[in-house]
Amino acid sequence: MAKLIGGVGSSHVPAIGNALEQGLQSDPYWKPFFEGYKPVWKWMEDKKPDVAILVYNDHGLNFFLDAMPTFAIGAATEYQNADEGWGLKPLDPFKGNPEFSWYLIDSLVEDEFDITMCQEMLVDHGFTVPMSLMWPKQELRNQVKVIPVCVNVVQYPFPSARRCLKLGEAIGKAVASYEEDLNVVILGTGGLSHQLDGERAGHTNRAFDTEFLDKLKDEPEWLLKYSNYELAEIVGPQGVEMIMWLIMRGALGDNIRELSRNYHIPISNTAAGVILFENEAV
Ligand code: DHB
Ligand code: FE
Repeated sequence: MAKLIGGVGSSHVPAIGNALEQGLQSDPYWKPFFEGYKPVWKWMEDKKPDVAILVYNDHGLNFFLDAMPTFAIGAATEYQNADEGWGLKPLDPFKGNPEFSWYLIDSLVEDEFDITMCQEMLVDHGFTVPMSLMWPKQELRNQVKVIPVCVNVVQYPFPSARRCLKLGEAIGKAVASYEEDLNVVILGTGGLSHQLDGERAGHTNRAFDTEFLDKLKDEPEWLLKYSNYELAEIVGPQGVEMIMWLIMRGALGDNIRELSRNYHIPISNTAAGVILFENEAV
């Protein structure tokens, strides 16, 4: 049977992709950020997950404002990256696992999540930056097959934080019932607090992010008391991306251990966070 062995929450700022490309990990600006990923790199190298379910948001590369699915899941054999204008060199295609994707989609639709199914899907920095952060070495990255789960946190109305947590629970259930022996990791990406535009551009909220990280393991429902409009006020309109971490958290169930965490302000305009959970139930 497939096993969900752990989960990671991680930010996805495009500048991180440039820093990795230019080997700036030891640069004083970047060091406190990349240091936080060392436990994740070691964990990934030790555990060698076969599949990554990558929960992320597209920023206008594959989906635009004319047609915006709330939840879209890729079911392709590979996912191409393309130039989206942040000065990032497009990365090599990422391998998919269409059989597992279709199983996941079937199971979620059965559980009343109406999923947009994508047999082709371009992936942007929301996807590529977390992949590069989890597996900076391309040969390791190539060993992981990816199932992209794309969430609308771009055009209102967004799904609620509660809906995200429940989607995560349904994903966890689907993985646990998949018959192939695969080790699966789930990545909840985006956030933490940031605002890219308007008079308050550059806004972050350390106190709120810290409380979010503190509550994520044992009390993820804490975030549900805020509407997405309230969250935009508190953590910035782009900071609302953090609701995608609840999908990761919901999938893992309650028998988990926090192995590492890091929080660093600023990376570009963003309060960058990373957290690693291991599932003790499998
Ligand atoms: C930045 C953050 C994002 O989440 C994003 O999608 C693009 C840019 C930033 O801080 O530069
Ligand atoms: Fe973003």
